Parts: sequence; structure tokens; C-alpha cells
Amino acid sequence: MEKLKVMTIFGTRPEAIKMAPVILELKNFPQEVEVIVAVTAQHREMLDQVLNLFNIRPDYDLNIMSAGQTLFDITSRALLGLNKVLQEVKPQIVLVHGDTTTTFAGALAAYYHQISVGHVEAGLRTGNKFSPYPEEMNRKLTAALTDLNFAPTNTAKENLLREGIDEEKIFVTGNTVIDALYKTVKKNFTFNDKLLDGIDYAGKTILVTTHRRENWGEPLRQVYKALKKILDEFADVKIIFPVHKNPVVRDVVNEELGNLPRVYLTDPLDYEPFANLMNRVDLILTDSGGVQEEAPALGKPVLVLRNTTERPEAVNAGTVKLVGTNFENVFANTKLLLTDADEYKKMSDACNPYGDGIAAKRIVQAILWHYKFVDEKPATFQPRR
Ligand code: UD1
Ligand code: UDP
Repeated sequence: MEKLKVMTIFGTRPEAIKMAPVILELKNFPQEVEVIVAVTAQHREMLDQVLNLFNIRPDYDLNIMSAGQTLFDITSRALLGLNKVLQEVKPQIVLVHGDTTTTFAGALAAYYHQISVGHVEAGLRTGNKFSPYPEEMNRKLTAALTDLNFAPTNTAKENLLREGIDEEKIFVTGNTVIDALYKTVKKNFTFNDKLLDGIDYAGKTILVTTHRRENWGEPLRQVYKALKKILDEFADVKIIFPVHKNPVVRDVVNEELGNLPRVYLTDPLDYEPFANLMNRVDLILTDSGGVQEEAPALGKPVLVLRNTTERPEAVNAGTVKLVGTNFENVFANTKLLLTDADEYKKMSDACNPYGDGIAAKRIVQAILWHYKFVDEKPATFQPRR
């Protein structure tokens, strides 16, 4: 049989972290598959950090990032750049991941070339077009263009079925983020980093990340003010905050939290130290999607700084709580976890609704099965109770 040409397209940090296990697994089938890695580089430094860690060298790099880019910039640059790449390579299938603008542009570019689309992490929904914005619509629009849906959980599969997607085209695989996490988190990890090794982890340590577009401006300011109040009330609390590269986020962080004692602001951390830091701290406050999936697997309570989530599984399991961005709400919920040992214990029971570490194997097996290289479909992912 002729080799199958599979092209992965991604552009941001989280897509890279979650696509890396799929690329590495595809490379285990050199007789059957030729893997071509194309990156839009919607993110530059934050993407390169991940590519270096997983030793992935892109075959095509569109290098589209510009400071303060708009959704129009990303979509148009990605689409035009991918047109040329797809024309040249002519893969049989393109794999995109998740819900970024690169994801949607990648799926659309493939469709315009009448190339099949595989969507990794398909089917997550909030049902609210503007929350998260524009990710909810990026996912829905990508689903409309997708031929093979790799849904991480059964809930995601049900969302797709409700939208009329053929069950035959859906595989429940688990989330590849757990594959990446299991490869990366180590017992007794040493950071080899002056800042992270210098922190005294006795007392309570809170890890914070923020970046969501719908939280820009006043909502983020409210969150940072609530953190300031926490620091004022609790003398033993430290905050570690790797700040997203987006200047819109950085400016407000610096205004509210710059130069405060017990606040450690850093550039975005490489995935390896970041994942191991999650494992070291007591509590996580975030508006990230990926962190909501990783932290529960490590038994770390997460307060989600958003009003909606497309990841209800860990909320239902009790490890994750949606607190929004309201000052009082963020302050009160953080205070509760710092003062109420029972509440903390309840939320820190490790739970693993998102994956078991072999999602990439299932995805690659589904692709090989679809193209008739193997006879068996992958088994459906079942979360451990
Ligand atoms: C993007 C995705 C979002 C995802 C997030 C993960 C869209 C519309 N948004 O949001 O879904 O959750 O990535 O982090 O697809 N920048 C740098 N260096 C970097 C990365 C970003 O300087 O390595 C700065 C640039 O000024 C850039 C800005 O951040 O213009 C915003 O980046 P962009 O990808 O547009 O938005 P994010 O908020 O990162
Ligand atoms: N992450 C990282 N370094 C950091 C902050 C986060 O490597 O300083 C990782 C995190 O472990 C997760 C991913 O980046 O896997 C989440 O990315 P982000 O929050 O930017 O995007 P989202 O998941 O919200 O789309």
C-alpha cells in the first residue's frame, strides 16, 4: 500500500503540547505513514518552547505572529500560507487540534483543497457563542468541516451527536494532554531555575495563569485585585504567576501585581517546569483550558476564572470550581480553600476524567483503521472511577 500522508497543522502553545503525542505516535509507523508538520506559529516563543521540549522540527513554518494580532490577521495569514503548503504537499488527511483560530483556518484550508480533516479534541462545547470567544465557534465551525472526530470524552461525543454528526465518524480517545502530562511530571523534579528553586514552598503556594480574550481588561483587573487582598490577609501565601506573552495581559498584571512581596511574576514557563510546578503548588487559579484538564489528574484544586466551561467533567467530579472574575467571588473562594481543610481535601481528590495516557495511540489506530492499514478500531476510552 502507498504511504499515507498525514499533515498536522497547529500554531499555539496548547495545540503543540496536545498534538506532540500524536506526532510522536505517528512516527512509530514509518512504513505506513509519512508525517508532515506544518505550524502557523500564531504563537512564536510559546510554540518554540514546546517544539524544543518534544524535539519536533516543523517541515513548514508560516511564522505569522505579529504583536497585537487580530483575529482577522491570524485567519487571513494562516489561510493564505496554508493554501500554498497544501498545494505543494497534497496530504490525504490534515489533523488540527482544539479551538484556536489556527485550528479553524487549518480545517478550512484543508476543506478548500478537498482534503480530509481529523479533529483532535473535538466536541467540547459551552453552548455560548461568545464564551469562550472565539474558541466556541472555532470548534463548531471546525466540526462542520471534519471527517474524523477524536472526542476526548463521552460528553464531547454526545455534544457532536446532538449536532447531527454521524456516530461512525466519532472516536472517544481520551485527551492527549494527559499523555503529555504523564511523560513530563516526575517525582522529586528539580527545576534548575533560580526563581522556582528559590521559592519556599512551605506555607501556601498559589499558581496563577490568565489569558482569555473575554477576560481582557476589567475582569482580569478584578481577579488581580482579589489576589492582592489574599496576600494582605494571609502572610504565608505566595503567588507564582507565569505571565502570558500577550501585552494586553502583561500590562494589567504589571500594574496590579508588579513589585509586590510574595508575588513571583515570570515569563511563560517551559512545559516541563510548568507541569511539575502544578504538581508542587497547593492551589491553581486559571482561565486556561488545558490547565483545567491537567490539574485534576495531579489532585490539585482549580478555581476557574471564567463564567462557562466546555470541560464540565472535573467540575462534576468536584476538583474544579467555576468562580468567574468577580472580585468578591474570587477572593471568597480562594479564602475558603486556604482556611477550610475539609473543603480543600474534598477538592484535592485526584480525578482523571480526561485521559489515561494513551489517547494518541487510539487516535493513530483510528486513522490507520480508517485508511485500512489495520483491521481493528481502537477501544473506546473509559475514565477510571
Ligand atoms: C491564543 C488562542 C486561544 C488559546 C491561547 C493559548 C485564538 C484566537 N486564541 O490566544 O484560543 O487559548 O492562544 O495561549 O486562536 N504573543 C507573543 N509570543 C507568543 C505568543 C503570543 O508575543 O509566543 C503575543 C503577541 O503579541 C500576540 C499576542 O500575544 O499578538 C496574542 O496572541 P494570540 O495567539 O492572538 O492570542 P492568545 O491570547 O495567545
Ligand atoms: N503552560 C506552560 N507554561 C506556562 C503556562 C501554561 O507550558 O507558563 C501549559 C499548560 O500546562 C497547558 C497549556 O500550557 O498544557 C495551556 O495553555 P494556555 O493556557 O495558554 O491555553 P488554553 O489551554 O487555555 O487554550
